[in-house]
Amino acid sequence: MADLQAIVDEIHDKLTPRLGEGKVADYIPQLAHIDPRKFGMAVIDVDGQVFKAGDADVPFSIQSISKVFTLTLALGKHGETTWNRVGREPSGSAFNSIVQLEHEEGKPRNPFINAGAIAVSDLVLAGHTPREAIGEIVRFVRYLADDETIAIDPDVAKSEQATGYRNFALANFMRSFGKLTHPVEHVLGVYFHHCALAMTCTQLARSGLFLAASGRNPLTGHTVVSRQRARRINALMLTCGHYDGSGDFAYRVGLPGKSGVGGGILAVAPGKASVAVWSPGLNHNGNSLLGSLALEMLAMRTGWSVFGQ
Ligand code: DON
Repeated sequence: MADLQAIVDEIHDKLTPRLGEGKVADYIPQLAHIDPRKFGMAVIDVDGQVFKAGDADVPFSIQSISKVFTLTLALGKHGETTWNRVGREPSGSAFNSIVQLEHEEGKPRNPFINAGAIAVSDLVLAGHTPREAIGEIVRFVRYLADDETIAIDPDVAKSEQATGYRNFALANFMRSFGKLTHPVEHVLGVYFHHCALAMTCTQLARSGLFLAASGRNPLTGHTVVSRQRARRINALMLTCGHYDGSGDFAYRVGLPGKSGVGGGILAVAPGKASVAVWSPGLNHNGNSLLGSLALEMLAMRTGWSVFGQ
């Protein structure tokens, strides 16, 4: 096995001269304040060994990466009927696009674009008040990462609530097609709060480990989902996790991954490791520029890929 710590250090060193590249998301005002030169990386292999570099223990806003956890929860609550409410196809559109929703009568293409994640929040809300549903999501992520300190950043949630005009448009549009069962304010309350979860790369890599290890978290011994469900969530991350940049991410990295506009990416090397990177500057698709590069370098150096050796 390659010396993973040496590889992670090398990636960090190679990218250091480029820190600050890309554009920090500023449409959520609270995210605009983040130092663009931050960079963190954590790799946790399926034996539980941790390899990290840079700001791997600095919390950041995980944003859309949280959609992996809410999808996992929704599948646990609703099983395959989840797919009556949201599709499983790549969108080829931006994460906040509204165009397909009209053609497809309010059923979003996949659970990772904003519209799809809003539908998933509606499913997680079933039988709960918004406060209970948010509590359930936080408890679930703490359980996955085996870390009780993980919390939502209330200022990020408020900031997005105050400026989330697009998401209100998407949710109202879906509701007009009868595709949301709870009030728009409740659904978006859940959505904005889970996007505002603050986590470090180390915590994030721990929380994704079940996807690298056939549904079971090897650190805690907890079986989170079945082997088949872990494979399927990975398939969705691969095909839809980077929006209209998903094809390019598959080409360059070759691993299931989910990005967030906070600059984080969670990637899964099945049978090998869970990886989290964070660099706030984004590319034109809204995915971390240096984070994608770091993962490309890691895949190249380790040979990890779902497409072959
Ligand atoms: O709804 C939004 O726009 C944000 N809370 C999440 C978007 C996001 O992270 C897209 N990812 N690249």
